[in-house]
Amino acid sequence: MPFLFTTFAAMENLKTYEQGMDLTAKTISGLEEVLADELKALGATEVQTGKRVVLFRGDKEIIYKANYLCRTALRILKPIGVFTVRNEKELYEKVKRIDWTQVFGLRQTFMVNATISQSSMTHSLYVALKTKDAIVDQFRDKLGKRPYVDKENPTIYVDVHINREKCTISLDSSGASLHKRGYRVATDKAPINEVLAAGLIKLSGWNKEGDFMDPMCGSGTIPIEAAMEALNIPAGYYRKHFAFENWHDFDHDLWHDIKEEANNRIAEYDNPIIASDQSFKAFSIARSNLKNAGLQMDVTLINKPFEKMNPESGKGMLLFNPPYGERLEEKDIIALYKMIGDVLKTKFKGYEAWMITGNPAAAKFVGLRPSKKIKLYNGQIESKFIKFELYEGSRKAKKQTPSDTKSS
Ligand SMILES: C[S@@+](CC[C@H](N)C(=O)[O-])C[C@H]1O[C@@H](n2cnc3c(N)ncnc32)[C@H](O)[C@@H]1O
Repeated sequence: MPFLFTTFAAMENLKTYEQGMDLTAKTISGLEEVLADELKALGATEVQTGKRVVLFRGDKEIIYKANYLCRTALRILKPIGVFTVRNEKELYEKVKRIDWTQVFGLRQTFMVNATISQSSMTHSLYVALKTKDAIVDQFRDKLGKRPYVDKENPTIYVDVHINREKCTISLDSSGASLHKRGYRVATDKAPINEVLAAGLIKLSGWNKEGDFMDPMCGSGTIPIEAAMEALNIPAGYYRKHFAFENWHDFDHDLWHDIKEEANNRIAEYDNPIIASDQSFKAFSIARSNLKNAGLQMDVTLINKPFEKMNPESGKGMLLFNPPYGERLEEKDIIALYKMIGDVLKTKFKGYEAWMITGNPAAAKFVGLRPSKKIKLYNGQIESKFIKFELYEGSRKAKKQTPSDTKSS
C-alpha cells in the first residue's frame, strides 16, 4: 500500500489527522531496521524504512510512546504539508497556504530547522528563513501580530525537509533531539551518541546472559544504555520535556498514563554490567553520569586498563568503542588494537565481543576473524561494528587469515 503523505486537500482541516497520521521517525544511518522493529512493537502500522528515516502511521498515543520508548529514534515528526517546490519564492507561497494559526498561537515561540538534499536550493539556513517569514507574515496578515522566534528553547519546532522537488513541512514532536536523554552531566573525549549506543546493543542481539562489559567506557554511555535496556527503563525517562507537550491538542492524561504504564515495567536485573576505563578522568565522568541516572548500584565501575581486566562470570558480551586513532600515533593505534586482540584471545574465551571502530585498517590488527561486520556512521565517521566470537576449548578464537583482511 503506498504511503500517503498529507496533501493540500487534507491541510484544509488539520484536525482530521488525529484518526491516524502519517509520521516520520529520524534515526542514524544503519539503525533504520532496528527502529522499524521498535515502532512496530509500539503498534505503529504501515512501517517503511528509508535513508535515516522510518515512515509509519500512528495516532497521538503512538507519537507519545515513540518519543518516550524508542531507543533508536532521534526525532518523531508529524508532517502537516507536502508539496512540490522549485525555488524559495514557491516555498514561501506554499508554506503560507498552511493555516498556521490552527497550529500554534501568538504567545508561543517557534523555530524552523531545514534539511535539503538534491535540490536546486542549496542553503538550508535560507530555506528556514523563508519558511519563518511565511509563517510570520501569515500571522501578521490574519491577526495583525506575529509570534516570535526562539532558537534556544522554542515551544514549537517546525521541520522543513526538501528532497529534490518534494518539500515536507512537519511539526517536530520531540524538540531537542532524543539522543539528549538527560542522564549525561558530562562527557569525555569522543562520547558516543546515546541513540547509536542503544542501537549497537540492539544490533548485537544481546541475550542478557552472563556479563555485559564495556572495557573502554569513556563517559559511560554504552553501559548506561545497556542498564536502561536491561532494567526496562524508558529511553525518555530522564528527559524533562518533549515538544508535543506544547501542542494545542496535548492530552495530559494520555501522556501521564503512557509514562506511568512504562515506568511500572521497570524491573530488577541481576547479571553484571561492568564499565571500565584506564583514564581516571573518564572513570570520574562515568561515575557522575551513572549517579545522575541512579544506576550506580546497577553498573560496576572500574578504573583499569583493558589489559588488566578479568572476566566476571566466564560468559557474556563485550561491547565497546575503542579510540579510532585521531589523537594517537600510527604505531600506538596498531599496538592498541593488537593488545585488544591478545586480551580477547587469552582472557575472554566463551565471550562474544562487539567493537565499533572508524579505523578498519587498525581493526585488522586485532588478529581475529570477524563473524559479522555492520556498516554504520558514528557522527560523520563511517564505521564498522564488528563481532568476534571467542570460542572456548578446542574451538579456539579464530585467527584472522590474510584473506580476511579485505574489508567487507
Ligand atoms: C572513544 S572513547 C569511548 C567513548 C565512550 N563510548 C563514551 O560514550 O564516552 C575510548 C576510550 O577508551 C579508553 N581507553 C583507551 N585505551 C584503553 C585501554 N588500554 N584500556 C582501557 N581504556 C582505554 C580511553 O580512555 C577512552 O575513554
